[in-house]
Amino acid sequence: MLATHPGLPLDTVLLGDCRTVLPPLPDESVDFCLTDPPYLVNYRDRSGRSLAGDRFGDWLAPAFSEVYRLLKPHTVCVSFYGWTKVDAFVAGWRAAGFRLVGHLTFPKRYTSSSGMVRYQHENAYVLGKGSPQPPEHPIGDVIDWAYSSNLHHPTQKPVQVLAPLIESFCPFGGVVLDPFAGSASTLVAAQLTGRHGVGCELEAHMHATAVARLARMRGMMLRSLGVDEAHPLRVA
Ligand SMILES: C[S@@+](CC[C@H](N)C(=O)[O-])C[C@H]1O[C@@H](n2cnc3c(N)ncnc32)[C@H](O)[C@@H]1O
Repeated sequence: MLATHPGLPLDTVLLGDCRTVLPPLPDESVDFCLTDPPYLVNYRDRSGRSLAGDRFGDWLAPAFSEVYRLLKPHTVCVSFYGWTKVDAFVAGWRAAGFRLVGHLTFPKRYTSSSGMVRYQHENAYVLGKGSPQPPEHPIGDVIDWAYSSNLHHPTQKPVQVLAPLIESFCPFGGVVLDPFAGSASTLVAAQLTGRHGVGCELEAHMHATAVARLARMRGMMLRSLGVDEAHPLRVA
């Protein structure tokens, strides 16, 4: 039987602050959260692009409290984070109710920046709501990184790195939440792996990028199945 997800805007990125956009969504309605919040580092890329919410972590506990409320019982959230503010991230996650149940490291084959050392990896925590059961075949906690090109977003996450996380932690046909969606990489990975995505993005220009990217992806997938988008019931 096909799963239904009443009250959820499936395969959509909502525009606005997740602290105000998520509260109308139903309790315990999503299967997994995969998110990449601002790292609290006042980031600026080579062309001067910056991120909203990247200076102060006042949003951390309220945003993750919403994630906690929306997750079904005994499920997980994977959240990337910036190591310089690990104390603020852990405090925010714990205040929201999460337990630390795993940690992921993503070694890169290139250097993102250089300081005391050359920075060559990303990090994420696996956060548990309640007592989640481990997957039947757990993935390793060291996962090769792939360069995303940052074409759509200054800190874009590669879809090929996100997809195995979704496959491991979200049932087929289930719903993945990303409250800090950016250019919708999580939702693209959800579409490609047969899951639904619900996202939220604060910045209007980034939201427009996310919506356009998802529409292109949907079009590509329909065309690859030989479906005419204008007449979806007619097979080309
Ligand atoms: C690190 S980026 C995510 C990039 C994304 N993983 C991708 O591949 O495109 C974090 C995003 O969260 C957004 N953001 C910051 N504060 C937010 C908030 N309170 N609610 C919703 N989105 C927010 C920023 O505008 C930014 O696009």
